[in-house]
Amino acid sequence: MSIRAAIKGVMGYVPEDILTNSDLEKLVDTNDEWIRTRTGIKERRILKKDGWASSDMGAEAVKGLLKKTNTDPSEIDLLICATVTADLVFPDNANTICDKLGINSAFGFDINAACSGFLYALTTGARFVESGTCKKVIVVGTDYMSSIIDYTDRATCVLFGDGAGAVLLEPTSEEVGIVDSSFGGDGSGRAFLHMKAGGSRRPATLETVMNREHFVYQEGRSVFKYAVRGMAESIGEVMGRNGLDEKKLNWVVPHQANLRIIQSVSKMVGVSPDRVMVNIHKYGNTTSGTLPLCLWDYENQLRKGDNLILVAFGGGFTWGATYVKWAYDGGDE
Ligand code: ACO
Repeated sequence: MSIRAAIKGVMGYVPEDILTNSDLEKLVDTNDEWIRTRTGIKERRILKKDGWASSDMGAEAVKGLLKKTNTDPSEIDLLICATVTADLVFPDNANTICDKLGINSAFGFDINAACSGFLYALTTGARFVESGTCKKVIVVGTDYMSSIIDYTDRATCVLFGDGAGAVLLEPTSEEVGIVDSSFGGDGSGRAFLHMKAGGSRRPATLETVMNREHFVYQEGRSVFKYAVRGMAESIGEVMGRNGLDEKKLNWVVPHQANLRIIQSVSKMVGVSPDRVMVNIHKYGNTTSGTLPLCLWDYENQLRKGDNLILVAFGGGFTWGATYVKWAYDGGDE
């Protein structure tokens, strides 16, 4: 049996400050009922700690993960960070997180694939383990979405929150681990979901700031349709390739962008709602944080050998699904 990469631990971090739907009613023309019925979100966490940015939330998650898995920082070979809100345009968050935690014999880099970032980073990390290049790899997703959200735009400000989550990957010769992935991309989707300025095409100027171009721009209705199709297709492909049917599937772990997207995808796949991880009501869409935060919240319910499909869709467009055979009994680690 060949070597696979197994998830050996998971940890999350969310800021303590809560932004509720009724708080948002005071900022924009919206209401709790619209937000709950259209998105499933009741509240989200917002980072307000002085001087903190996305790497600090990522570092908190990784610090907790090292402690929980009894791993010394010196044992880590590679740290990959998924984010669209790195502290700086460069350098990357991964090396900043390593520096903050004394992880000094590792290399690191960031992956930017919007809401699919964590999934892409997970598969990339798994490849380094499977090839024998690395023994211990940390994959962390962290996003400080409130730093790029326009709180005068009701169409986007109700959706996003801040948070981070991390997993530890190690080699295994058991029948568990990251088994297979199916990914897709369509660059023409950038028209529907992007940030207008701040990159090399349109660097920051007084005009771009005055025009509020440094925030998330989204045409939600279009993104919704592509998201349902992309997620359902990639789940179908991974299930087909691996002989999985809805009876063999223990959990679907979907990116948390909208409860209606999650429900549509689950219905198309034929999985009952009690086997679909959902925490969007309390965190909103934390972009790179959603999948590890789901695993963190549901960890105690997971059993060794459980079949999980992680699935995401995000800006780019980017999308995909990853089949994971869970490697340990939750609560035992
Ligand atoms: N409160 C009240 N009304 C609102 C709000 C609000 N917060 N936001 C929009 N509306 C209004 C609109 O103005 C519109 O009014 P109109 O009919 O008078 O024009 C009406 O509600 C319906 O607007 P839609 O945009 O059609 O609403 P929809 O049901 O599509 O929900 C949403 C919008 C929640 C954004 C949804 O389209 C969605 O979730 N899209 C996908 C998001 C996603 O998956 N993104 C990818 C990941 S994010 C990433 O990669 C960074």
